[in-house]
Amino acid sequence: MRIIVIGKEGQVARSLAERARAHGVQAVLVGRPKLDLADPSGIEDALIETGGDVIVNAAAYTAVDQAETDRELAEAINGIGAGVVAGAAAAMNVPLIHLSTDYVFDGTAGRPYREDDPVSPLGVYGASKLLGEEAVAAEAENHVILRTAWVYSPFGKNFVKTMLRLAGERDELGVVADQYGSPTSALDIADGVIAVSRNLLERPEDRSLRGLFHMAGTGYASWAEFATEIFALSARFGGPSAKVRPIATADYPTPAKRPANSRLDCTKLREAHGVALPPWRGSLEVCVKRLIELARKEVTG
Ligand SMILES: NC(=O)c1ccc[n+]([C@@H]2O[C@H](COP(=O)([O-])OP(=O)(O)OC[C@H]3O[C@@H](n4cnc5c(N)ncnc54)[C@H](OP(=O)(O)O)[C@@H]3O)[C@@H](O)[C@H]2O)c1
Repeated sequence: MRIIVIGKEGQVARSLAERARAHGVQAVLVGRPKLDLADPSGIEDALIETGGDVIVNAAAYTAVDQAETDRELAEAINGIGAGVVAGAAAAMNVPLIHLSTDYVFDGTAGRPYREDDPVSPLGVYGASKLLGEEAVAAEAENHVILRTAWVYSPFGKNFVKTMLRLAGERDELGVVADQYGSPTSALDIADGVIAVSRNLLERPEDRSLRGLFHMAGTGYASWAEFATEIFALSARFGGPSAKVRPIATADYPTPAKRPANSRLDCTKLREAHGVALPPWRGSLEVCVKRLIELARKEVTG
């Protein structure tokens, strides 16, 4: 199996490259400048030239706060570009796996969100990702949209790396305690995407495998609980640690509003694809240990 991955340095793209090797499948990463989602004219040619059995769009405009003042570019990349990728996948007759987000919801539901719950994004980023979902569904019948949440990994920018950096600078950190979601390892997403890819190729006629699914780490936490676990693990592995002071969202204003409830119900993915991501604490342990070992190696050369 040869997977075309759109995105090069992103968390999910790099995780797919790493996990593909472990699964004995080929992942070919393609991104800027060869394929720029903001420039639709070159997308199909770049995908055809790369060639593969399945396309995974792991690229997106992900700067949630910046998007508030950068709507046009966010919509171009996450909405129009995503649709052009889907059109190309259909023309190439290969399945498309597209990554989306919990931020399509407003977070007011009193339970984890299911795929058929009404969407109502609070910000530009969520709205642009929703445009992408709609464009993908319209352009490519043979598609899977995977909404995920709270992604972290040893790569790129993410909450785990930010917390570990700040713990090296401060003794105590105020962390939001009234937003809930599922911390999700990009390496687990990669394993899940590879399993879904296999299913799509093995059962090309099975409609139950196609459509919209939620895929996030198992279990839920607030950002403050997530941070507390990061520091407990870090301390265990000899890394930096800080005391977490729980704060309210209202005490930490950001340009983009975030959903208070980002919990995703992942039952549909488990039932259709047999894929369930591991409990979040175990995956977090693997990542924190790796980051601390990496930092130690950098210091000792
Ligand atoms: N991070 C989260 O917490 C989170 C939560 C829910 C859903 N998601 C979704 O999960 C997916 C993967 O997210 P991630 O965390 O891996 O993102 P990320 O680390 O921010 O990486 C974004 C990727 O998109 C690529 N990209 C951005 N603009 C592009 C353009 N114009 N043309 C081509 N490539 C472009 C980047 O390219 P370069 O390699 O050139 O930098 C990078 O590879 C996205 O669809 C995101 O919306 C993420």
